[in-house]
Amino acid sequence: MSRTIVITGASDGIGAAAARQLHAAGQQVVVVGRDPDKTARIADELGVDRFVADFAVLDEVRALAADLRARYSRIDVLANNAGGIIDRRRSTVDGHELTFQVNHLAGFLLTLLLRDRLLDSGASVIQTSSVAARRFSRFDIDDLDAERRFSSSTAYGNAKLANILFTAELQRRLGPSGLSAVAFHPGAIASGFASAARGPWRWMYTNPLTRRLLTPVEVGGSRLTWLALGRPGADWRPGAYYAENRISRTHRLAADPQLAARLWERSAAMVGVEP
Ligand SMILES: NC(=O)c1ccc[n+]([C@@H]2O[C@H](COP(=O)([O-])OP(=O)(O)OC[C@H]3O[C@@H](n4cnc5c(N)ncnc54)[C@H](OP(=O)(O)O)[C@@H]3O)[C@@H](O)[C@H]2O)c1
Repeated sequence: MSRTIVITGASDGIGAAAARQLHAAGQQVVVVGRDPDKTARIADELGVDRFVADFAVLDEVRALAADLRARYSRIDVLANNAGGIIDRRRSTVDGHELTFQVNHLAGFLLTLLLRDRLLDSGASVIQTSSVAARRFSRFDIDDLDAERRFSSSTAYGNAKLANILFTAELQRRLGPSGLSAVAFHPGAIASGFASAARGPWRWMYTNPLTRRLLTPVEVGGSRLTWLALGRPGADWRPGAYYAENRISRTHRLAADPQLAARLWERSAAMVGVEP
């Protein structure tokens, strides 16, 4: 049975690879991207619907949610996959640190604005997180916008830990009503990742020699595809964090339900939705 699968960050990299795989598996894929030309290219290749939104602007996320609600009576899978790492601290028009907004707040807002549609569909909500949550996070619930301390790696690690905390809290709050949440690390993937970063991150992902050590984008996409096609509770455990299609260890704070609840409340206040 074909299901409606909305993938953000589907104009490139892991999201585009997953969109191709899920389309080939007969699913109704909805491509969401930031760059209009890149988004059109993937959507036209597959002959599917496309939407464009820059997650650096929360009003564009709100408009995206409204468009998706108007267009689809069911959304069976929402993959919050858009994201990346940047070179220096920047504030968005919404007043938030850009890494945190694009990787966490935007997906949080989109999910909450689609909440009833997702619940009615018994949907899976997938977060593309990262091993960076464990390696680089120095999570400070009182400094989510990194006003006191910023480094590219820490901001990225914090945002990716937020993905995992959000997954756990989403599962606690909406799991009993039929929604299933999951987070995963796709691998170190040879995508467009880190093109907006500098230093070692950019070098590792763009240098032809180090790039050979990375995993092909199709493998990263296949990990999203596996979760999107899988049956929650049978193929994967709701609320969990996966790497290589197996439950994996991450940062110890990911197991703190009070922190997850506080992050939910703070995130809701930051994007102006009812928690
Ligand atoms: N590659 C890795 O090794 C790796 C490892 C762990 C986790 N991840 C995560 O995997 C996810 C996908 O990344 P990728 O590796 O596939 O990188 P990518 O090739 O750079 O793709 C990133 C995708 O996110 C979209 N995006 C970026 N900034 C956006 C914004 N402000 N608003 C809306 N969309 C935005 C891009 O849209 P446009 O192209 O249209 O601008 C693109 O579709 C990210 O969340 C990343 O953090 C990647």
